[in-house]
Amino acid sequence: MDTKLTAIQTIQGEFTLDLKQVTSLAQVDLLSTRYLGKHGQINTLFKTLPIKSDPQTGRKINDLKSVIETKITEKINQFLSLPTSTTFDVTTPGTPTPLGSLHLITQAIEEIENTFLSQGFVRRRYPEVETDWYYAEGLNIPPDHPARDDQETFFIDQDIVLTAHTSNGQLHEMELKKAPPIKMINIGKTYRRQIDASHTPMFHQFEGLVVDKDINITHLLGITEFFAKSYFGSDRRTRLRPHHFQFTEPSFEIDVSCGLCNGTGLIAKNACKVCKSGWLELGGAGMVHPQVLKNGGLNPDQCTGFAFGWGVERVLMMKTQLPDLRLVYSDDIRFLKQF
Ligand code: PHE
Repeated sequence: MDTKLTAIQTIQGEFTLDLKQVTSLAQVDLLSTRYLGKHGQINTLFKTLPIKSDPQTGRKINDLKSVIETKITEKINQFLSLPTSTTFDVTTPGTPTPLGSLHLITQAIEEIENTFLSQGFVRRRYPEVETDWYYAEGLNIPPDHPARDDQETFFIDQDIVLTAHTSNGQLHEMELKKAPPIKMINIGKTYRRQIDASHTPMFHQFEGLVVDKDINITHLLGITEFFAKSYFGSDRRTRLRPHHFQFTEPSFEIDVSCGLCNGTGLIAKNACKVCKSGWLELGGAGMVHPQVLKNGGLNPDQCTGFAFGWGVERVLMMKTQLPDLRLVYSDDIRFLKQF
């Protein structure tokens, strides 16, 4: 047999034996130099060939070279515990994709929405960027009226504001429906120039408006009690305190009994730290002012109504006792992940 062919076979045999004995990456490296390096076995073999005269043997040497290259790569992968092209464990678990969740405020909005939908309310959304008419004047708050000072409003220009309450939705709903019955819950973003542990410049309110024949304060009380009991717990009670709003008459603030001291204001004879008085303020409400019904195109001689406007963040803080509302809008995933 041709001496070159014998040499090829010998090298192949030696390589196979050498490869079997390799126990580390460093040894694979040495093997690679010994066979494939510049002065390695393969190159030495090539050098013994007369130039251009023996393509067949040249091809055989090249074949051996690629066999050695493949085996060396496989060996390296084994040491790096990488799957080789021939072995792949199909049962290896994949990398799980992290699952997100609805934002805390979105969850609260959904819960509030469902509570009112169950009582026959329809869900509405009215503009956040609003004209002075819907936001104030149409709600019986004339220009220069001191009631405007209650809110430090963001102005877009003299006539356009970022609405500071959801009461703008009252007039929109009356215009949309044109006649009673009206039973809407308007949940939306509201803006005031405020920031501390329980206030953010952007927050949410939910505004209820019910207008029909013979609607009176007991209807307002019924819905208020229903909301307090379903959102905070069946042991909670509500009460009305007289108040003033330009767009309701009479007007009230509504309180909910404190869940910690059960409305007593005392815990083991000491003042309750959460409420101090036994009651927590929920927000404003009242019977829709006849002038507002008129401004919305309804006839106050033929219908009456009640309205309320409460804060989403506020009820959430009352329920969960969040230490600082600003956390809710901080985008800190460690905080948000808890909900
Ligand atoms: N708009 C009032 C506020 O933001 C709340 C309110 C709504 C009061 C509806 C009465 C009726 O404080």
